[in-house]
Amino acid sequence: MTLRPHIGYRLGQLCVEEVPLDRIASEYGTPTYVYSRAALSEGFQAYADACRGHDALICYAVKANSNLAVLQLLAHQGAGFDIVSGGELERVVAAGGDPAKTIFSGVGKSESEMRLALTRGIGCFNVESLSELRRLDAVARDLGQIAPVSLRINPDVDPMTHPYISTGLKETKFGIPFDQALPAFREAVRYPHLRILGIDCHIGSQLLNDAPLIEALDLLTGLVDQLQSEQIAIEHLDLGGGLGIAYREEQTVPIGGFVGQVLERVGRWRAEKYGGQPIRVLFEPGRSVVGNAGLLLTRVEYLKPGTPKNYAIVDAAMNDLLRPALYDAWHDVVPFREASAGALPWEIVGPICESGDWLARARELALSEGDLIAFLSAGAYAMSMASNYNSRPRAAEIIIDGASMHRIRERESIESLYSSESLLPLSR
Ligand code: LLP
Repeated sequence: MTLRPHIGYRLGQLCVEEVPLDRIASEYGTPTYVYSRAALSEGFQAYADACRGHDALICYAVKANSNLAVLQLLAHQGAGFDIVSGGELERVVAAGGDPAKTIFSGVGKSESEMRLALTRGIGCFNVESLSELRRLDAVARDLGQIAPVSLRINPDVDPMTHPYISTGLKETKFGIPFDQALPAFREAVRYPHLRILGIDCHIGSQLLNDAPLIEALDLLTGLVDQLQSEQIAIEHLDLGGGLGIAYREEQTVPIGGFVGQVLERVGRWRAEKYGGQPIRVLFEPGRSVVGNAGLLLTRVEYLKPGTPKNYAIVDAAMNDLLRPALYDAWHDVVPFREASAGALPWEIVGPICESGDWLARARELALSEGDLIAFLSAGAYAMSMASNYNSRPRAAEIIIDGASMHRIRERESIESLYSSESLLPLSR
């Protein structure tokens, strides 16, 4: 039975590609993140195929899963990258990604991050405020460079998703308000050390309806027309990321259909108003590329039935997978052995000393102590949001490629957790 692309049961055992997960547990221990190479590649390829023959660039949002091997795989398939920190930029470079195909998003870029990005030859800065424009111009002048810039516009459309991951409403901290966009561009073109390349937006994440994205696209194309009438030429239009995945059985927007629709709409607009002169289109997908390509493998440590709820305490916790605690998010939980009788509703929780440390609620499963279970749809915003809370070393990460297992991150050692700390020189 297939649960996710390249993840499912074979001979009654849960496998990623051809590898049964008890092999991962005995070789690398638990908790461990496990990804399918084929599913990662196909996640990106869905975008790449839809863009073929168009002037388009897919900039994978590194924050979704920033493991070097994941970035390497996507770079190898031609991906550009969307980053939000100097740290993410250095990961892209270390993984063999091309800084010229990388765009730098985020509301709070520091001066040193700007400097680093300019030195590395970043493709574009997505600038979110007038103050940031000023700072970037000064940093570029200092380095004797011209910084490539796009302005991130907040189009004030409701993406209809969780409030924490809604970014395109005017109440949020993101972007330049739509009604201040034209004055912002007029100001931007006056800076001698900036070169205005593009316009962008990102309205939210885990979107299950593409209408708000199309609405945002139309608002941006309208702005490009107004800018054109003032001789401000825009070379690229970046629609951000945001397409959702099925965590349960949600209807999702098909990637190919969506990208095709955007490119066709842009093509028609360019044909009507610009004599067919193309404009480059950028996408910044994260979750829809990697989200369903991974799972978190964990072992049941203790069962506390009827207390009054049934608690299953596993060796993964909110520090490994924060999404349930932070967003009330749902991740399907499946056992390593396919069929077993005697299911009860279990609260699946971790060892951390907080009642907020839960991973799943009231799941009908037949569990015994020592069992392996997996949290599905854990390829995005899972390991990348892990912490060391309670001084817990972060999990290992493995990529399965057919029948081979590749460890792409060692489990952290306990000593590494405090190796950068120091003791006081106490004399009393
Ligand atoms: N571009 C920008 C500027 C972003 O802020 C984001 C995500 C993306 C692209 C990628 O969006 P995606 O295609 O993955 O939806 N931690 C949350 C998700 C936070 C998303 C933040 N921004 C979660 O676990 O659901």
